[in-house]
Amino acid sequence: MSFEYAPAPESRAVVSIKPKYGHFIGGKFVAGSKHFPTINPATEEVLSQIALAGKAEVDAAVKAARKAYVGTWSKMSGKERGKYLYRIARIMQERAREFAVLETLDNGKPIRESRDTDIPLAAAHFFYHAGWADKLEYAGLGTSPKPLGVAGQIIPWNFPLLMLAWKVAPALAAGNTVVLKPAESTSLTALLFAEVCQQAELPAGVVNIVTGDGSTGALIVNHPGIDKIAFTGSTEVGKIIARAVAPTKKSVTLELGGKAANIVFDDAPIDETVEGIVNGIFFNQGHVCCAGSRLLLQENVAEEVLHKLKNRMEKIRVGDPMDKNTDVGAINSKEQLAKITELAAAGDAEGAERWSPACNLPAKGFWFAPTIFTGVTQAHRIAREEIFGPVLSVLTFRTPQEAIEKANNTPFGLSAGIWSEKGSRTLWASQQLRAGVIWANTFNKFDPTSPFGGYKESGWGREGGRHGLSAYLKGVSHE
Ligand code: NAI
Ligand code: MG
Repeated sequence: MSFEYAPAPESRAVVSIKPKYGHFIGGKFVAGSKHFPTINPATEEVLSQIALAGKAEVDAAVKAARKAYVGTWSKMSGKERGKYLYRIARIMQERAREFAVLETLDNGKPIRESRDTDIPLAAAHFFYHAGWADKLEYAGLGTSPKPLGVAGQIIPWNFPLLMLAWKVAPALAAGNTVVLKPAESTSLTALLFAEVCQQAELPAGVVNIVTGDGSTGALIVNHPGIDKIAFTGSTEVGKIIARAVAPTKKSVTLELGGKAANIVFDDAPIDETVEGIVNGIFFNQGHVCCAGSRLLLQENVAEEVLHKLKNRMEKIRVGDPMDKNTDVGAINSKEQLAKITELAAAGDAEGAERWSPACNLPAKGFWFAPTIFTGVTQAHRIAREEIFGPVLSVLTFRTPQEAIEKANNTPFGLSAGIWSEKGSRTLWASQQLRAGVIWANTFNKFDPTSPFGGYKESGWGREGGRHGLSAYLKGVSHE
């Protein structure tokens, strides 16, 4: 028997979106010169016009950040800085509903995820780092740790506010000031965060937000007035940034792509594992750098797992992100949809077998049904390249050693998952996997206290936890 869900739409009345936005520089909103539209990817409705920062605006933001660093923030005691961070965290909690609705409208992710994951975790990052601000001397990072100065921070569109929190909270806790650029398709929650900074009476210039595209990002990366670059996004752009900062004195952290193996051993608890596989690849439409996008099944349980996985996938609700029952929302952009479609077509062409449950996709907006490919080999593009969408590539293995070899056979190394009831096997496997984060009998668990980052082409440095703090302090190595 199956139950029909009645629609349960979240109200958008809680947000007021302006027709046009400027930049947030030196504590004030300043008008932009050029603008571009930001849309709701679930409906293609234009939500607002976002300003495109050029050289003059980036210069002004860096100047404001330097002034605030020299004049105020670097002189302030950690205890005082912490007060501001606590204030920001509390205001984010108070305005959580507004943030969640805005994030869902601008990004396309289900309201259930923005409400229960993105926004609470973003606030948690500020609370966590607020606690560090007056205890840096005791973090095991030297007796008198010093900030780096002005940090240029460039973030992606998959977790817009959360990635802002990952970057801004540790930078401020450690005594740096920031110039942050959100991704071009998801600027609205960063601009609402700017309002929160005003509400918290954060000293002018400590946080500056300039909006724009890759050209604005490049202006930040190449700006001589910046001491540190923190970037999350594609490996391609990460390499451009690494080359640009190599001949300079800038510090850099890069959080890039992934192609994580989610390994299922034959002693795994199958029902729980199926939930973990679904969460691993269909959470946030698969727009997750650490997504479990390569499922490695031990051969003798492969058939059973796939059968149960397909049954479970039949129950995934794809559609209106504002509906509280929705599991999978809209693909973030037309460009991303084109990329997913192209890679899935390559899966067909190279001989893998595609399966999706029946689902009615809305006529307008950008959608991709949850999809699995079986019969995938390691040579297939869908086993090697990051799809960044709701597409799972399934491979099989016979022995545990073969699982490790296949899992590590990738240029990436961000995350991995292990499903087994046996602790010794889990420990054995996790010691051999070349991945920064390894989950055992769970997947996609995030916590501000836990460092996150990758090996190889997945990036440099760590964010979160004590390790993440070190990336915003002088003279502390961060690997
Ligand atoms: P992207 O790397 O181009 O964009 C990420 C951010 O970098 C945005 O704010 C963008 O404006 C900025 N940017 C772009 N070019 C830049 C440059 N030359 N210098 C400085 N900043 C620059 O990512 P895109 O094009 O949106 O997505 C392409 C693919 O990248 C995705 O399909 C996915 O595979 C991967 N990706 C990975 C992410 C992750 O969390 N690791 C996040 C976003 C994308
Ligand atoms: Mg791009």
